[in-house]
Amino acid sequence: MISTRAQNLQPSATLKVTGRAKELKRQGKSIVSLSAGEPDFKTPKHICDAAIKAIEDGFHGYTMNPGTPELREAICAKLKRDNNLDYDPSQIICSNGAKQSVGFSILALVNPGDEVIIPSPYWVSYPEMTRLAEGTSVVVRTSFENNFKLTPEQLEDAITDKTKALILCSPSNPTGAQYTKEELEGLAGVLRKYPQVYVISDEIYEYIVFEGEHVSILNVAPDLKDRVILINGFSKGFAMTGWRLGYLAAHHDIVNAVSKIQSQETSAPSSISQKAGEAAYTGNLDEVKAMRDQFKKRRDYLVKALNAIDGINCFTPGGAFYVFPDISHYIGTKKPDGSAIESSTDLCLYLLDEFGLALVPGDAFGEPNGIRLSYAASMDDLKEAMDRLGKGLADLT
Ligand SMILES: Cc1ncc(COP(=O)(O)O)c(C=O)c1O
Repeated sequence: MISTRAQNLQPSATLKVTGRAKELKRQGKSIVSLSAGEPDFKTPKHICDAAIKAIEDGFHGYTMNPGTPELREAICAKLKRDNNLDYDPSQIICSNGAKQSVGFSILALVNPGDEVIIPSPYWVSYPEMTRLAEGTSVVVRTSFENNFKLTPEQLEDAITDKTKALILCSPSNPTGAQYTKEELEGLAGVLRKYPQVYVISDEIYEYIVFEGEHVSILNVAPDLKDRVILINGFSKGFAMTGWRLGYLAAHHDIVNAVSKIQSQETSAPSSISQKAGEAAYTGNLDEVKAMRDQFKKRRDYLVKALNAIDGINCFTPGGAFYVFPDISHYIGTKKPDGSAIESSTDLCLYLLDEFGLALVPGDAFGEPNGIRLSYAASMDDLKEAMDRLGKGLADLT
């Protein structure tokens, strides 16, 4: 009855741990969770006020399929102000979240059998979206030593006649790694040699960077602009995950293709959220910066606490709100009951069952030697989590 397309799709690999965490919590167990993929802050008030006003003004109808002209103008002004990039509103398509923009970009670009290069650890949706488009994911495993960043050599090795796109995510979910100008220049140098390769540049964590400014591949390689699809949104920087608002900026041919797909699948995002997004991009960024400062304090605490634990090795990520330590030391160890920890998933299930600590296994992101800890959580929770982690790991032999 069910299509092979749907059958082949993998459910989110993070569900195994988060589902069990919810069940244990329901049973009344004390659970500390560092598994959230969303800020633990409230959407700034001036943004909420704009949405309330939109409701009161009766701004209730469908908007144009790519989003209101006002929001698209605000996005272009923001891209100029923050990123020094020139786009026309006709090159912007607003969507129900950056997730939709990534998915529709892949659908617009990829033919059956085309290859999409996805550096791992990757955001869980990239390979599955590629599968839905009947493309082939070419996962390139990056290394802990290189802070999980794709090198120009790895990129060049992965490119074949069938390569259609590279997906870049900086700052990254799940590692927090942030590509530098020089690293992006290196990748751009390879991409210049292969004009058939497009880049989907997911910059959703742009506002959560701790060292210097966010750099887009478009800043270092403006000559590649026609084949870069810039993805961004409001969820992370403005704590607006539930508003479901994202967008892409691209060449007109891509925009027209995505627009057709969007017009048949979903139409424009919510009119109310669009008014909120307009306020976000035209208003001040004080609260965005305050949230970022909080995240930085938590990152600093967590990296230090993790590296103080025997056998754990954690690099200091430049952005987002995740750390991704190397836990390979603990793969192959034994639990007090004698059974073995064979994978990062085993380790996370053990920490959850025995110590009430919910983390996401690296297996979910294509990196078996890591685990993801989200610091979109209070300092008290972070401290409690480190305490439980230290105890849990100390019991392994
Ligand atoms: C790397 C990355 N891209 C895109 C998204 C999707 O964001 P949105 O809420 O705008 O759909 C997420 C959300 O977790 C993400 O981590």
